[in-house]
Amino acid sequence: MNKRILSGVQPSGQLHIGNYFGMIDRMISLQSNSDLFCFVANYHSLTSINNKDELEKNTSEAFIDLLALGINPEKSTFWIQSHVPEVTELAWILSNFSSVGLMQRSTSYKDKIANGLKPNMGLFSYPILMASDILLFNADVVPVGKDQKQHLEMTRDIAIKFNNFFGDIFTIPEIEIDNTNDIIIGVDNQKMSKSYNNTIPIFGDHDTINNQVMNIVTDSAGLNEPKDTNTPLFKIYSLFLDIESKKELHDRYNTPGLKYMEVKKELVDIIINYFADQRSRKNELLSNKDEVNELMNLGKLKAQNIARETLSHVKRATGLL
Ligand code: TRP
Repeated sequence: MNKRILSGVQPSGQLHIGNYFGMIDRMISLQSNSDLFCFVANYHSLTSINNKDELEKNTSEAFIDLLALGINPEKSTFWIQSHVPEVTELAWILSNFSSVGLMQRSTSYKDKIANGLKPNMGLFSYPILMASDILLFNADVVPVGKDQKQHLEMTRDIAIKFNNFFGDIFTIPEIEIDNTNDIIIGVDNQKMSKSYNNTIPIFGDHDTINNQVMNIVTDSAGLNEPKDTNTPLFKIYSLFLDIESKKELHDRYNTPGLKYMEVKKELVDIIINYFADQRSRKNELLSNKDEVNELMNLGKLKAQNIARETLSHVKRATGLL
């Protein structure tokens, strides 16, 4: 049987190329030989978005963007988290197997507070909801970035504790950290992240993409000097290149005469062309609300089937049913 792989994407704004090369492209290629479960984590976004229109818009846009990028809702199970509210019921049950000390050691919680998020119980128990996302669907593997590793260790911890009391109810998920891709760098040479305002949106219009590419920081190497490749322009450009073309770009950097402005202009076109098919698919979906609603409903039904089965095992095992 194919392994069940699960991942969630928070709808916290426009998806950017850091999201794409960090995770989304991997999920899309995983669909061919695994049982992919993927959802838009809008309950999680309630920890940072307290605005009806914004949450609604971000959620449906993330759903449409992921469809346009290649998540296949027939082959995979793809849904919006809040459409399967069973996840919150399981989260309550799991919270009784989640130690306060463990939650207090969450580096992500501490970082978020340091960045100005309100320290409320939703934010504090974020890792329990995440454990519920994973355990409810019996995921075998959860591929995540380094920043989510601790959350997954908590999930394993909670599942092991629960199973010790009640038997083999939950699959203990493997953590898969992607080491092939370094952190994706933003235009300012920090990690690409919406909170740093240094992203290049996948589906931005020409002006937005152009402006952000022009904002990529470069050094002041003279025209006739070779150029440093350990720099954001080279790194971002390379994301779009195969090994051969990356070597060519490398050679151009080593040859005097390279003009950063020319490289930037090329990069704008490359980004726009790279996502051209996906962009037209997105436009198609935007003008076909019925199709999108149908796909949302399909995902909900597929996910809910499994969720209800797991939840009923859990409730029987604990004496709630
Ligand atoms: N916390 C994840 C993030 O911010 C999103 C997420 C929510 C998730 N639930 C999940 C990821 C379950 C993997 C599995 O990126």
